[in-house]
Amino acid sequence: MLPVASSVSHVRWNRKSYTARSTERSERVTTEIDPRAFRDAAGQFMTGVTVVTAVDQDGAPIGFTANSFTSVSLDPPMVLFCLGKESDSLPAFGDAGGFAINILSADQQDLSMRFASKGIDRFEGVDWIPGLHHAPVLAGSLAVFECSATHTYDGGDHLIFVGTVERLGAVDHDSPALGYFRGRYTKG
Ligand SMILES: Cc1cc2nc3c(=O)[nH]c(=O)nc-3n(C[C@H](O)[C@H](O)[C@H](O)COP(=O)(O)O)c2cc1C
Repeated sequence: MLPVASSVSHVRWNRKSYTARSTERSERVTTEIDPRAFRDAAGQFMTGVTVVTAVDQDGAPIGFTANSFTSVSLDPPMVLFCLGKESDSLPAFGDAGGFAINILSADQQDLSMRFASKGIDRFEGVDWIPGLHHAPVLAGSLAVFECSATHTYDGGDHLIFVGTVERLGAVDHDSPALGYFRGRYTKG
């Protein structure tokens, strides 16, 4: 297991504190960019699709579909994802000591849709096992990054979660990936 960065802090987050933590710089910047045009432009960037998982304070599994995954650093190994501040899962992710990022394969589109849906038990019928920090590792993922929660940054209407990778799971070099491009799933 790799050493965990010493700057890990277990801050109890709530929506008010995210706003309060906006940086001076982001408060100064105003923009005329139309949100629809911004979404369209961002959609030109093809991504993979992940399901980010953790457990809440009661130990119950939580997870959501994310294409904001990025690898950040090789040494130490670090990755990030962004979560909307209005997300119901935000307080639980803010409190979690770690999380898992499951990279989806082309035949896991149903999982992507399930973990982006409201009002259902997202884990019902899903094949998973608890990993580090009890974060669910989903069967059939192309790769899994099991992380300790290291930093959290304000990112406008999202929070940026940076994790230090403690273990890599289930790297599958052969199966095609699930992709997302112009608001649609792609497979390849
Ligand atoms: C392909 C795809 C990628 C998504 N990526 C993100 C993301 O990176 N960050 C985010 O906050 N929401 C993302 N979403 C939306 C969330 O999955 C969804 O709004 C969230 O699960 C809402 O549930 P919650 O409030 O329980 O978290 C994405 C949805 C889809 C379909």
